[in-house]
Amino acid sequence: MAELNGKVAFVTGGAQGIGKAIVQRLSADGFAVAVADLNIDTANEVAKAINDAGGKATGIKVDVSDRDNFFKAVGEAAEKLGGFDVLVNNAGLGPTTPIDTITPEQFDKVYHVNVAGDIWGIQAAHEQFKKSGKGGKIINATSQAGVVGNPNLALYSGTKFAVRGITQVAARDLAEENITVNAYAPGIVKTPMMFDIAHQVGQNAGKDDEWGMQTFAKDIALKRLSEPEDVAAAVSFLAGPDSNYITGQTIEVDGGMQFH
Ligand SMILES: NC(=O)c1ccc[n+]([C@@H]2O[C@H](COP(=O)([O-])OP(=O)(O)OC[C@H]3O[C@@H](n4cnc5c(N)ncnc54)[C@H](O)[C@@H]3O)[C@@H](O)[C@H]2O)c1
Repeated sequence: MAELNGKVAFVTGGAQGIGKAIVQRLSADGFAVAVADLNIDTANEVAKAINDAGGKATGIKVDVSDRDNFFKAVGEAAEKLGGFDVLVNNAGLGPTTPIDTITPEQFDKVYHVNVAGDIWGIQAAHEQFKKSGKGGKIINATSQAGVVGNPNLALYSGTKFAVRGITQVAARDLAEENITVNAYAPGIVKTPMMFDIAHQVGQNAGKDDEWGMQTFAKDIALKRLSEPEDVAAAVSFLAGPDSNYITGQTIEVDGGMQFH
């Protein structure tokens, strides 16, 4: 385990999938990490494994769609870990929603987690950055489906396009305070969310899960699905000093699906 670098990173949705790989990677980079998740039991397990391996981590319960709760969780992490330097707005919901099936309830839920959650996170991090006066880094999860519309994902794609917009505006609004705001756009990553989407899309077409996965995976130039660690490596760059002159950008980590 690397020596601690004196910085604290807060990762939402850190209990599983891409978020778990991000907390593990940032811990290996030397960050003290807050594993922030709705599922506190799994978050605590991830934090314990990091502490057992000689890193520094704490599990924090958060519902990113609840503004007050997000502020409380960020304050708690800063207190426990002794500062606040990096926010990774990673938590997200990815339901499969053929266009005619979208309900008002689903719309509210998904936009509150994927879009409002990012805004509450930016506000809560900004409060901490103002206290420290040192600036900081905000890193948001979008998707290749937030760069180009994907089949059956009208609700999800819309939220992820919104995340790129919010990233660009926040980058401009916070730049003077030495705060950078960037986003990462994963492709087809082997996580519970993606297996669920592949299953649903396959079912909707009367086909199997593998067919559902290939609907999304067939255009990957590098010809393999993404591991969560592929994404965590890009987030490590965005969280570290080598990205200090980059802000407002979306890095696509998709094995070559979208080219811009
Ligand atoms: N898996 C992919 O292929 C893929 C592709 C592109 C983008 N993404 C994005 O990457 C991020 C992580 O995706 P994943 O595949 O690891 O997802 P996942 O569903 O496997 O894990 C998401 C985690 O977020 C937590 N979470 C859900 N709602 C929450 C809330 N309201 N508050 C706090 N935590 C909450 C869950 O408990 C879970 O631990 C998401 O934003 C997703 O949209 C994923």
